[in-house]
Amino acid sequence: MERVKIKVDLEKCTRCGLCAEVCPSSIIQVREQGPTLIWDKACIRCGHCVAICPQGAMDHTANPLTGQVDVSQLPNVDAATAERFLRSRRSIRSYKADAVPHRDILKVLEVARFAPSGGNSQGVSFLVLTDRVILKKITENVIEWLEEQIRQEVVWVKSYAGIVKIYRDTGYDIVLRGAPNLVLALYDSRNPIGRDNGRYALTYAELYAPSAGLGSCWAGFFEMAAFANYQPLLALLDLPAGQAIAGAIMMGVPKYRYQRLVDRNPLNAVIR
Ligand SMILES: Cc1cc2nc3c(=O)[nH]c(=O)nc-3n(C[C@H](O)[C@H](O)[C@H](O)COP(=O)(O)O)c2cc1C
Repeated sequence: MERVKIKVDLEKCTRCGLCAEVCPSSIIQVREQGPTLIWDKACIRCGHCVAICPQGAMDHTANPLTGQVDVSQLPNVDAATAERFLRSRRSIRSYKADAVPHRDILKVLEVARFAPSGGNSQGVSFLVLTDRVILKKITENVIEWLEEQIRQEVVWVKSYAGIVKIYRDTGYDIVLRGAPNLVLALYDSRNPIGRDNGRYALTYAELYAPSAGLGSCWAGFFEMAAFANYQPLLALLDLPAGQAIAGAIMMGVPKYRYQRLVDRNPLNAVIR
């Protein structure tokens, strides 16, 4: 990877030291001649030194000032709006049958890629499955895997016997809920924090989806079979070499709109 450099406009720089203070690796020192990068190899390319500078004096080769969006004059989202936004996210299990324009899915994933990642490692990629035949095969494979677990009397799977029976009796897709898309987050299997990164990205995707007219739901049964390395399922997915599944969400246009915010268990928190 190319070595990084910072460039400081010394006319604008007030030596306030914010760039050094927010640097996660503590590798910027404010010296007499201005902020100095003292160990470029430890830079995680997060761009914070550029983003924090009130003067716009800092630039960084791996996260240039020109690529950052100036939000300094914008207010934060007010508390009530933010709470309503977060609480409005719902797991969607009824989807319109229509195919979703690819641009709408990409819009969601374009935002999802800004989720936090360990050491700013990022590295999450997405595989969006849209082929109805493949999606149907995935459901069938996951059901077969669940049935195998039930036969082997795996304790925690017992409670799912009922929904597997519903699938067998009625054909109702309890795995992917008839969604027209399955979004997989993939990561480099050598990255120990990669699975977490992918799941944070999918969480962002879930939160942003309604703003793009879409709804989503975690595909937990699919994930269980995939994480258990169920070979018939993995063979169907044909993942790129070295990539592992971090998680999966189904996605599509919701059939219905929720009218109310649901309640949950009361807060359980201790502050010491
Ligand atoms: C890791 C994870 C896996 C899940 N798997 C499934 C699933 O396989 N099928 C499903 O219908 N919902 C699944 N859900 C959705 C939960 O049932 C849902 O989040 C919960 O009931 C709360 O509802 P809400 O998301 O609308 O607040 C999953 C959620 C999570 C976080």
